Amino acid sequence: MTLLADLRDLRVALATPAGPAQVLDGVSLEIPRGRIVGLVGESGSGKSTLALALLGLLPASLSRLDGSIRLDGEELVGASPERLQALRGTRMAMIFQDPMTALNPLFTVATQLADVLKRREPGLSGAERRARLLGMLDKVGIADPERRLHAYPHELSGGMRQRVMIAMALLCRPDLLIADEPTTALDVTIEAQIAGLIRDLRRDFAGSILFISHSLGLVAELTDEVAVLYAGTLVESGPTAEVFARPRHPYTSALLACEADLDRDVREALSIPGEVPSPLERGTGCVFASRCIRAEHRCREETPLPRPVEAGRIAACHFA
Ligand SMILES: Nc1ncnc2c1ncn2[C@@H]1O[C@H](COP(=O)(O)OP(=O)(O)O)[C@@H](O)[C@H]1O
Ligand SMILES: [Mg+2]
Repeated sequence: MTLLADLRDLRVALATPAGPAQVLDGVSLEIPRGRIVGLVGESGSGKSTLALALLGLLPASLSRLDGSIRLDGEELVGASPERLQALRGTRMAMIFQDPMTALNPLFTVATQLADVLKRREPGLSGAERRARLLGMLDKVGIADPERRLHAYPHELSGGMRQRVMIAMALLCRPDLLIADEPTTALDVTIEAQIAGLIRDLRRDFAGSILFISHSLGLVAELTDEVAVLYAGTLVESGPTAEVFARPRHPYTSALLACEADLDRDVREALSIPGEVPSPLERGTGCVFASRCIRAEHRCREETPLPRPVEAGRIAACHFA
């Protein structure tokens, strides 16, 4: 299987008032062509930073970027801002948690969607473009698309804005679509609808998807492969069904135990005891050692590197 994106030993340090924060600490991740890869981990583990690194949108506080990000063989670490901008909205597109990050409040839905389409398919006539936009709004489940086309973002509900942003991403027909917690800001009913929409997409979207989510249920349902991040470190990866059925890293087990069979309210109240270590102080040993029920002396002394534990599966644990 060929790789669309190949991240190798990615390291991202950001400057903060308290000093440099090592937000990603040597992450390697492969995104095969045409596959959906899930990215999970508690809040603060570096999921969004990884997505922004792929897009070339790391914050201005970036103090160091090392490692390699290849998209279709092309190295993006060190690529010019112009090149990265040319890739965004054509080869790569992102669905953000907050649609207002992607939508401009000053322009109608029609103007913003038409801009995307003009860039991707400059040869279309005005009438063809309009037909494509209406078709896409219909596809993402927007009722009365004629009227919605002329609305401004603030005139739409949160769920509707999320649909418009998904429509915008799909009009790009990107090779890589990144969805960063696309359902987290929505209420439960809308969350289920948007999840259904992403499920439908699986059928007619030919590109690869990096699906970042808090919801292990959604990741289990929607993704082929999964990567588990903890404190800027990749602790486990492999085919989703196998990883969730037989996790090889204690952190993955703990995450799954928190989610298992619980409804949303209970789940949010429950979490793994202890805290994610601060990116300001990364010591030696396993990043998860302070919270791990299996940790031994060795775990605090010696950093476990990600290693193959069986075909297609990687875990960074001395006991995996
Ligand atoms: N612009 C920034 N400046 C400084 N630290 C940041 C910035 N963005 C994120 N961080 C820190 O980086 C870590 C990872 O953040 P993030 O990538 O947003 O994680 P996630 O998406 O998994 O919740 C957190 O500790 C967060 O506080
Ligand atoms: Mg995030």
